[in-house]
Amino acid sequence: MREAHAALHVRPEHFDRVVGHLVDTLVDLGVPASVIAEIGGALAPLKDEIAPAAQLDVSRP
Ligand code: HEM
Repeated sequence: MREAHAALHVRPEHFDRVVGHLVDTLVDLGVPASVIAEIGGALAPLKDEIAPAAQLDVSRP
């Protein structure tokens, strides 16, 4: 997962936005909160692999 996203310079706020949209969509679709929490719990540990804070690129505004 880290390799697949490394060159994309995904920032932590991008990751949060994507997960936020996903959660909003699941809520709109009436998915039970317990299932949404389970999905969130599976995605959260991926944040540092997909959007490592240490790779912040200051040249990208
Ligand atoms: C919940 C967060 C995310 C998950 C679970 C996720 C999962 C994945 C997976 C499984 C792949 C395929 C990896 C592979 O081919 O080995 C992938 C590729 C990719 N992801 Fe994500 N991703 C996430 C967030 C993001 C975000 C935030 C972006 C960009 C804004 C992004 C952009 C991409 C792109 C462009 C690829 C294709 C890379 C390539 O083939 O060169 N992903 N992602």
